[in-house]
Amino acid sequence: MGKIIFANWKNKIKTEAEAVALAQATDAKGLVLFPPHVFLREVAAVVKHAELGVQDYAPDAKSAGARYALVGHADRRTVGDTDGIVAEKLALAVTDGLIPVLCVGESRAERDSGVTNGVLKRQIKEGLSRLAELSIENPLVYFAYEPLWAISNSADAEQCSPETAVHRITYIKEQLLHLSYGVTAKYLYGGSVTSKNVGGYLHTKDIDGLLVGAVSVIHKELKKIWHLASKS
Ligand code: PGA
Repeated sequence: MGKIIFANWKNKIKTEAEAVALAQATDAKGLVLFPPHVFLREVAAVVKHAELGVQDYAPDAKSAGARYALVGHADRRTVGDTDGIVAEKLALAVTDGLIPVLCVGESRAERDSGVTNGVLKRQIKEGLSRLAELSIENPLVYFAYEPLWAISNSADAEQCSPETAVHRITYIKEQLLHLSYGVTAKYLYGGSVTSKNVGGYLHTKDIDGLLVGAVSVIHKELKKIWHLASKS
């Protein structure tokens, strides 16, 4: 069956020509590309096998060709997306017929002070809180566990072991049992994933796929990751 790879290009691709070239070089089934919003339509025009997502919910994302929408990514939370804003974006995404990818994860300080579970619980409960208002039964939601201390943006990023990732994802699954309404859930791990360490995350049935950031714009590296994931 294979595991799905979400490739978040972040802001690393600067021109339309680069975006189109990268999309053409990596285009494959089982891959979801998240180009910068400004290049979404151009990328949609050239991909044949990959699916597309928007890096942050946007009202025109569906018409531009996206099927998925990241909400609550660390890049957005750090510039002011509160749990309330994340909840609104998630509900809007579902209303538009997009599949939301709710990103959750604790900071290093939160981890070190032992409040990780509380942070995850709050981000999930509040992030999903507006779903109850919609009359959509069991919408599909991807939950991406991305501990901030493992995201490659920071120079002192640490690797989150597959065991820790599974442990946290198990906790997220448990939280969903306490909701008064249903979601169909899938689970991703994200944070400094490369072709060298991807194997550990692929060997567990608890993770449905990976959210890959920095190395997803290096087409050979992304292809290696995709190749390993498609066989897992
Ligand atoms: P990274 O990013 O793979 O560069 O750590 C993951 C993310 O921020 O989605």
